[in-house]
Amino acid sequence: MAEVTLDLRGKPKAEAYAELKQHTEAILEGIDDEITAMSTMSCLLHHAFGHLWTGFYRVVQPGKLLRVGPYQGTLGCLEITFGKGVCGAAAATRETVVVPDVHAFPGHITCDGRSQSEIVVPVFGPNRELLAVLDIDSEHKATFDEVDRRALEELMGWFSRKR
Ligand code: SME
Repeated sequence: MAEVTLDLRGKPKAEAYAELKQHTEAILEGIDDEITAMSTMSCLLHHAFGHLWTGFYRVVQPGKLLRVGPYQGTLGCLEITFGKGVCGAAAATRETVVVPDVHAFPGHITCDGRSQSEIVVPVFGPNRELLAVLDIDSEHKATFDEVDRRALEELMGWFSRKR
């Protein structure tokens, strides 16, 4: 097992994600535990790209409430209602939300004042049930684009595979 925390800054994004996905799946080989996977992915994504905050909000009341799960970064808010902020928007619509400038997003929830842009990706289980959302915050504007969206949605495919 390749127990290494990769630093992929400096590599082209698509290449970095491809390497990270392979690495993550190798580490999680034989593991069937969502919390272990969320913890491992938060750690690897956070350090690979040097993000500000990387982690999961888990669905604790379907259609109603998210609660913070495994993450890396400064203190995250504990609970987010569906429909509130970027995480709540992604949970309510079941779609990835890319925010180039958090100050321009109505209702954005500020946990760390340094956050400038973010991406939130829904995480589905094997029956398309919403398990969580992955939230990544950056201290730079417009950090995330279609490459991130596609790669992160693919990475989150780990949770929808039957095992
Ligand atoms: N940015 C999020 C709130 C969560 S934290 O940033 C950790 C939002 O508006 O949904």
